[in-house]
Amino acid sequence: MTNNKTKKRVFSGTRATGRLHLGNYLGAVKGYIELQNREDLDCIYMAMDLHTITTPYDQNTLAQASRDVIMDYLAAGLDPEKSIITLQSMVPEHTYLAFLFSSMASVAQMTHLPTFKDKVKQHPEDVTMALLNYPILMAADILLYRSDLVPAGIDQEPHIEVAREIARKFNNRFGTDFPATKRFETKGTYVPSLMGQGKMSKSVAGSAINLTDDLKTITKKLSKTPTDSGQGDCVPTEGGVANLLTLVELFQSEEKRREYEGLYTSSGIRYGDLKKSLAEAISEELKPIQERRIELEANPEYVEQVIEDGAKKAREIARETIKEVKEKMGLI
Ligand code: TRP
Repeated sequence: MTNNKTKKRVFSGTRATGRLHLGNYLGAVKGYIELQNREDLDCIYMAMDLHTITTPYDQNTLAQASRDVIMDYLAAGLDPEKSIITLQSMVPEHTYLAFLFSSMASVAQMTHLPTFKDKVKQHPEDVTMALLNYPILMAADILLYRSDLVPAGIDQEPHIEVAREIARKFNNRFGTDFPATKRFETKGTYVPSLMGQGKMSKSVAGSAINLTDDLKTITKKLSKTPTDSGQGDCVPTEGGVANLLTLVELFQSEEKRREYEGLYTSSGIRYGDLKKSLAEAISEELKPIQERRIELEANPEYVEQVIEDGAKKAREIARETIKEVKEKMGLI
């Protein structure tokens, strides 16, 4: 891979804030894998450790959290032979380009972004310059590789818009040729919370199944999902029962879901049975990922090698971009 792109380029990443859960896996990583396997795309996937330090974090666990993201990527099926896989902080050009970009971004615009306002609400005592710079760093992540596509959720659209705007401004003023990056909606499924409300999230207690959970843990978590008497005139469309049925569809089959729906309006669903077979189905899907993950944990040298190799490849592209931007900005 060099800057003379022959294929479209894809960039995405995950902040290093803990192990991935089922929602991340189905919603993001499965999509990354799909893109990685397309012949017309070159993909770069990173653990975004510099973005992690924009909000309060623990310096004793950050390095491990970054490696956890990389190991989950690899266990789920990202392949270092096909994609560049590394840590953001291993490629210093990200922060360099972010500084150059910051010269063309207004403070006012950054403070008005919804993502910034949310974080200010969550951490009113920790509104740092790093947090304000979050979108600029993200624009640098993307544009350093002239990425065309960013697989990410709808919540990231304002950030990607910032990247497009910076690209436009730079191209106009300095004659660079940064692309107008598009967000890529992967087929990633909406995975509902176990607690009956909203989507599966790390931050809502009891709502998420972790990729590491075994059958016993999954069974225990599902046992807490709120249900009802199991019978009625119409099948609930929201709440715990609706979410269980969505999970049945995701991990078992649509037919199975219809079977339960039929039972609901006739003899009644026995939730104990439903939860037992659902837990088994989820566990089956996770097992191969967990097995690969255990192999990776036993082989930290391999994981470090993947990170090193990925950084080396990424830096080759990154250096060219920095050189060009420095020239065009009049620094050399
Ligand atoms: N902001 C993204 C998130 O919270 C993480 C991220 C940082 C990212 N840089 C990126 C995602 C570049 C895609 C591309 O999920």
